[in-house]
Amino acid sequence: MPKRIVILSGAGLSAESGLGTFRDKDGLWTKYDLSEVATPEGFAMDPAKVHGFYNARRANCLEAQPNAAHEALSQLQAAWGADLTLVTQNVDDLLERAGAREVIHMHGELTSALCASCGHRWTAPRAMDPADPCPACAQPATRPDIVWFGEIPYHMEAIETALQMAELFVSIGTSGEVYPAAGFVQEARIVGIPTLELNLEPSSGSGLFTDARYGPATEIVPAWVAELLEGSSGSS
Ligand code: OAD
Repeated sequence: MPKRIVILSGAGLSAESGLGTFRDKDGLWTKYDLSEVATPEGFAMDPAKVHGFYNARRANCLEAQPNAAHEALSQLQAAWGADLTLVTQNVDDLLERAGAREVIHMHGELTSALCASCGHRWTAPRAMDPADPCPACAQPATRPDIVWFGEIPYHMEAIETALQMAELFVSIGTSGEVYPAAGFVQEARIVGIPTLELNLEPSSGSGLFTDARYGPATEIVPAWVAELLEGSSGSS
């Protein structure tokens, strides 16, 4: 039974909660131009458009409810404690609303606002506007606290440390198209630990995993968690 587990999740984890994925048919990047709404250059060009995009994501998120996969991961964390590291590329708070704590949001969070001028962070209002002043320095330089393409993801040191110590790496609901997250499976292989893909279908990097299960997250994640919890109670 693996003790230290690192789980990386992506948009597929929240898909059945009604939040769109990015690269599937009808995904967000088929409707929006990524370079316009998810890059620093796009924000400099048209901040109102970028705020509009994330305001819509925030509104969707507020309407959504955690699903059985979020609940299962929260349950696993309750049993595994600090030996489980939950890393997500998702900017929603559905894991937290299912009870999970200390979730590492490597691509930022919709619930947070960031001042591009002084670096201050605060709770994002439902709708952000380019003219909003920063509560700390009063500059109208507020941006969503989201990591855009071309920016460095958050908490990379903590993630690298957890990967080095891990005994199992699990990837859930991510296409493995965006680095550095897409490279975590290779890092886990170098460490020499088992790697498991839980996804609707094989991702482009599926061949890198030592084990895989395919199906909707709300089915395969609770089933996998139940096996782990059963195994751990049997071995104690
Ligand atoms: P993608 O849209 O690239 O991939 C979603 C994955 O989830 C695909 O492999 C789907 O097959 C799978 N999937 C869809 N529905 C599922 C379900 N019900 N159950 C299980 N799996 C399902 O999303 P991400 O990999 O999360 O970054 O994208 C990574 C990053 O690219 C995002 O964080 C975002 C995006 O551009 C930024 O915006 C910086």
